[in-house]
Amino acid sequence: MRDAIRLGVNIDHVATLRQARGTRYPDPVEAALLAESAGADSITVHLREDRRHIQERDVQLLRQVLQTRMNLEMAATAEMLAFACATRPEDCCLVPERRRELTTEGGLQLQAQRQTLTPVCAQLAEAGIRVALFIDPQPEQVEVAAQLRVPAVELHTGRYADAPDERAQAQELHRLRAAAQQAARLGIEVHAGHGLNYHNVMPVAAIAEIVELNIGHSIMARALMIGLPEAVRDMQGLMRQARGA
Ligand code: PXP
Repeated sequence: MRDAIRLGVNIDHVATLRQARGTRYPDPVEAALLAESAGADSITVHLREDRRHIQERDVQLLRQVLQTRMNLEMAATAEMLAFACATRPEDCCLVPERRRELTTEGGLQLQAQRQTLTPVCAQLAEAGIRVALFIDPQPEQVEVAAQLRVPAVELHTGRYADAPDERAQAQELHRLRAAAQQAARLGIEVHAGHGLNYHNVMPVAAIAEIVELNIGHSIMARALMIGLPEAVRDMQGLMRQARGA
């Protein structure tokens, strides 16, 4: 058998649904436990500056109840650094963040952000947190990641996922493979994620150097569809029960 590959399940969009109504449900913590019991190797959450989905309470509760690992995605800001050092997730993935973006667009620009990232990486490592940098699959990004001595990188698969045709997708896959091989040669653990779904995951999962994929939106979307028939039956059952049927 080839080397195993881990799945980190991103539960942000369970919180998106909760925040849309300001209710207590659906609870991302409950979803995380279900994902773990279904075999997820870790749980990923992105605590965004605008708190649009995951809240601090979610991260703190997850820290207490998860049996696997928590991977906290966050921007490299003083506020988030203080929160991470206090909460101590097992893993921390530093990502670029823009307020108005729909989702994380593009990886970190390591050379330009080197001065900000160096002390943040050092303090996270000092707190015992394993750091990954979310980068585009470009040789220069991998090179700087190695200079920053981070234990892991997460390769941004968004351009691969969004490629307009097969040729462009093959090119993006080639870039992912090359970046993964370069990082592994430099002793950096390779993760990947963003936009991966049931149709496009296999070629990325086949890249031997990639040891972890973080996937959220497509899994939550499928969970909705798989779970919908039972949810409708349960509601109808309650209504009929109320009528003595
Ligand atoms: N990895 C990183 C660094 C991300 O920012 C995201 C999106 O929050 C993901 C993985 C998961 O992406 P998706 O929800 O498209 O599977």
